[in-house]
Amino acid sequence: MNILITGALGYIGSHVAVKILKENHNLTLLDNLANSKISNLKKIEKISGKKTDFYKLDVRQESSIKKIIEKKNIEAIFHFAGLKSVKNSENYPQDYFDVNVNGSKSLLRAFEKGRAGKKIFIFSSSATIYGNPKLLPCKETHKEQPTNIYGKTKKGVEIFLKKKAAKGNWKIISLRYFNPIGSHPSGLIGDNPKGKPENLLPAINKVAKGKEKELLIFGSDYPTFDGTAIRDYIHVEDLANGHLSALKYLAKKRKNVYDVFNLGTGRGHSVLEIVKNFEKVNKVEIPYKFFPKRKGDIAINYANVSKANSFLNWETKKSLDQMLKSTWLYEKNKTN
Ligand code: NAD
Ligand code: WQD
Repeated sequence: MNILITGALGYIGSHVAVKILKENHNLTLLDNLANSKISNLKKIEKISGKKTDFYKLDVRQESSIKKIIEKKNIEAIFHFAGLKSVKNSENYPQDYFDVNVNGSKSLLRAFEKGRAGKKIFIFSSSATIYGNPKLLPCKETHKEQPTNIYGKTKKGVEIFLKKKAAKGNWKIISLRYFNPIGSHPSGLIGDNPKGKPENLLPAINKVAKGKEKELLIFGSDYPTFDGTAIRDYIHVEDLANGHLSALKYLAKKRKNVYDVFNLGTGRGHSVLEIVKNFEKVNKVEIPYKFFPKRKGDIAINYANVSKANSFLNWETKKSLDQMLKSTWLYEKNKTN
């Protein structure tokens, strides 16, 4: 199949790119490098042993993207390109709506104008869309009530995709990721955000590497067994496999499709559990101190993954220890 990946040099996109190349599809990569480095391209090619075509483009450059879609006869798009900082989304809401919502709409238009036949589109959505879940484990049928601008942009795209799939030859899936962590077994690609990390594992990595003195744990009196917040951490390799399963599922469909799937493990772990296990499996010390809760943070979220298990024929394979070892493997080896 001829496949385009947007945001392909980023954390999750690069892992999916490697898997797609291993399956011998023809792959085209696109990224504007807003949150990634061009060196990831060589790493993707090194791991997969394959060359790819890369375009440094903004996802909002509709006419250039349409031309690429026509030239390469693109049949499926994985759309990862977007801005993902919850904090920045509150400070720069316009930018977030423009890149995430308008960018997705522009990409869909380019696909529609550039291809007449069946169009497969797989979108990176987020568990943030649920807000503060009322029922756990959280199912796809749970009300979407995001509490931050980032989550609202994901909801905006999902609403648009659902409408789009009602007409025309569209097969669309939104994958709602829980908390992706870990890296490729080669240790070459992993989560490498520009600037100060906001997510837990990149923050722990910085402390393990001695770049920060201590980890700030946001909140110690959540209604959980140890007072720290609980999330569903999923290995990026398991997450990437979920994308291939979604592609296979859509490739078989004849009628129009729009569907949403949670991608998580179905298990929750507290921040302190993550810190203690990270120390144990990697034999490093993570000094920490408790800090006030982060604005908008929720106490507990973990996924009900039975829908993805049965319809996508997908399940996670990696244990928490494997996830935490693999998270450190990348950071330990990283030189930039
Ligand atoms: P990332 O920042 O590592 O990757 C996103 C990539 O998109 C980057 O390489 C960036 O340079 C590129 N990009 C940003 N704006 C662009 C634009 N206007 N045009 C072209 N490229 C652009 O993030 P990630 O963790 O790989 O996330 C990928 C997708 O998954 C995002 O849409 C994100 O919102 C979503 N998601 C991520 C998580 C997570 O915790 N990592 C969780 C849920 C959903
Ligand atoms: C996890 C837990 C923090 C950093 C966000 C987005 C979601 C997805 C993943 C999107 C929380 C605590 C964190 C630190 C800490 N991203 N923490 N010290 O908040 O569940 O989800 O990122 O693309 O959409 O909403 O993930 O990794 O930021 O935090 O104590 O330095 O770790 O308070 O309880 P979160 P996270």
